Amino acid sequence: MISAENNIFHLRNDFFSYVFEISKGKHLLHRYWGRPIKEFHDSAPLQGIDRGFSGQLNDFENERTYSLDVLPQEYPVRGHTDFRIPAYTVELENGTNITELNYSAHKIFDGKPTLKGLPASFGGGQTLEIELKDACANFTVYLYYTIFEDLPILTRSVKFVNTGSKKFKIQNAASAAVDFSDNDFEIISLYGGHAAERTIQRQKISRGIFEVSSTRGASSHQQSPFIALARPDATEFSGEVYAASLIYSGSFAAKVEAEQFGTTRLVIGLNPEVFSWTLAQGEEFQTPEVVLNFSATGLNGMSQAYHKFYREHLIRGKFKDQVRPILVNNWEATYFDFNEEKIIALADCAKDLGLELVVLDDGWFGKRNDDNSSLGDWFVNTAKLPRGLKGLADEIHSRGLKFGVWVEPEMVNVDSELYRAHPDWILHVPDYKPSFSRHQLILDLSRADVREYVLDAMRKVFSSAPIDYVKWDMNRHMTESFSAKLPPERQLETQHRYMLGLYEIMEALVTEFPDILFESCSGGGGRFDAGILYYMPQTWTSDDTDAVCRLSIQAGTGLAFPIISQGAHVSVTPNHQVGRVTPLQMRTFVAMAGTFGYELDITKMSDAEKAEVKDYVALYKEIRPTIQLGKFTRLLTGGNEYAWQFEDDSKVIAMYFKILSKPAEPIRILKLAGLDANKSYKLTKYLPPKKLSVDGGPQKISFDAKTFNGDELMYCGIAVPKIETDFAAYMWIFEK
Ligand code: DGJ
Repeated sequence: MISAENNIFHLRNDFFSYVFEISKGKHLLHRYWGRPIKEFHDSAPLQGIDRGFSGQLNDFENERTYSLDVLPQEYPVRGHTDFRIPAYTVELENGTNITELNYSAHKIFDGKPTLKGLPASFGGGQTLEIELKDACANFTVYLYYTIFEDLPILTRSVKFVNTGSKKFKIQNAASAAVDFSDNDFEIISLYGGHAAERTIQRQKISRGIFEVSSTRGASSHQQSPFIALARPDATEFSGEVYAASLIYSGSFAAKVEAEQFGTTRLVIGLNPEVFSWTLAQGEEFQTPEVVLNFSATGLNGMSQAYHKFYREHLIRGKFKDQVRPILVNNWEATYFDFNEEKIIALADCAKDLGLELVVLDDGWFGKRNDDNSSLGDWFVNTAKLPRGLKGLADEIHSRGLKFGVWVEPEMVNVDSELYRAHPDWILHVPDYKPSFSRHQLILDLSRADVREYVLDAMRKVFSSAPIDYVKWDMNRHMTESFSAKLPPERQLETQHRYMLGLYEIMEALVTEFPDILFESCSGGGGRFDAGILYYMPQTWTSDDTDAVCRLSIQAGTGLAFPIISQGAHVSVTPNHQVGRVTPLQMRTFVAMAGTFGYELDITKMSDAEKAEVKDYVALYKEIRPTIQLGKFTRLLTGGNEYAWQFEDDSKVIAMYFKILSKPAEPIRILKLAGLDANKSYKLTKYLPPKKLSVDGGPQKISFDAKTFNGDELMYCGIAVPKIETDFAAYMWIFEK
């Protein structure tokens, strides 16, 4: 519930409280965020200290102890007495960027407003709207806070309205700022690169400013729009964690400032480096939404809250609560070298193995036989597919399988009919040569005419054949973010206008094609963010399909994003990205911890491998509701070992992975987590690593048909039978 009494706003549910006050009738001061408190009576009032000259500037001439530089704030402004990172900056027509926002009114209402043109969560319990005004410059800013009854989640966003007659330029508009009264934190972020996304980084906070950000016009492989401040004693299972995840797919910035008096400020939103927005009389600007998450139960508590929140309050459409089909994708099987016959052979084999969906990846259109040409020309290459997408889709459907297709609608190659007809449709700066990446250029989706073409082209593809699934790829980052259609003073709007344009296209397509399951992709997981999940319920996690690399990539991705949103496929060995040879069982179990599929030439597998795959596919069908729709817990993360637990009303599944075998190691005891101590769990399946060498089989421990109580599984744990082999993967399945 949200209360507003005696100038104090208290937002609370069973999981957290968030408190701020109106001070001096105008400033919004942050007071508390953390474990729930029933009532706030100001047990720890803010203390004004006269720190004299140079330490501090004062807001009121006769009050030397009141300074915004030391007071915790809700939406800090720059240019007056606060020298920390501002939440916003607005440049007025007279050239100044010093403005002043003061409290003017508030409203509390049920539910949650939609965010015009932007992806946003839905279904909130109550919303608080705070109105702030700059009386001199005549603009109004609305801060939105929404709480959800059953989750430790608070969403925030901000709307700017030009209520005056003069236009002004928003140079910076964060979605939220939070001030903490201390700096006893470690910062957790997700960094990476192409084929190496979302590695968990945890570091001590240090004085100064720490930033994770992207200017790439995509949320990016390099940094994820997620940041957490964890207490140093916070573990996977205990301790306090404060996290922020942005529902946005373009350039962003999350900054943490540990300042002179030992406090911490967190600011997150659009990246001001590559953004500005001119607001004329009567116009509005809406920031993306940020999802704040407080966990008193460590990192697993934080992740479980994000997973539930994104599954229940962000992902939409018919596939929201549906288990996803097991697919085979031809990319690593054939790359560009395929024809109808090869794909049908793949489909025949897929049918035999029990797979459910055949996905035709890049190379089916224009004259694309490599990555030099044809992006933009969305008509079938009849040399490869003489009967078109329809002929192929019908063949695949006649085998009782679903059919999916790859597209990369945001791009164009110079060698394409589209580029020859519209060379001006790309993002580029006049007189300069555009930069290339993978031989391709980016279509300027900030332009209505370009959006119309892309939308129309995709409509034609999606209705040209019975298509059940679409993989929407995006294989380069934005450079020369300049739009030929925008006036000079609006050029820094290009990137954000592009994102709004992309969202508009996606919204239209998911609405018009509700039966298509969309999977987003950006050279693997370069646009794995909550913004895209609003339109497309799953994302290809990484172009690195090696099982060992995937352990850390998927563990990092799972910090903020649900298991059901992570595409994960079994590929061939030696692996195409790293050359590693890992057993089929390890590749399979790692891929099973996501939306499962295959990405290799299954027709070339031996009969023994095919038999093994059949068993795995049957097994996954049995356990996929638990994996995809259940609760996920990281039991062990990093180093040489990973262990994951999945649980729903009927089952508990534990997976354990050991990368390298080492002599003289202790026996690993795996302790399950979060079970009911008084309930019993029957072990119905135990799958140790397959014996790889004559004497290398796992130690024999008989788990046969045993039933354990939850307390024993959590506190005594299960012994992992030792094996002398690298890349060992185990699975235990318990029925409740
Ligand atoms: C990048 C994707 O991540 C791959 O899976 C594949 O679809 C290629 N693009 C195709 O060009």
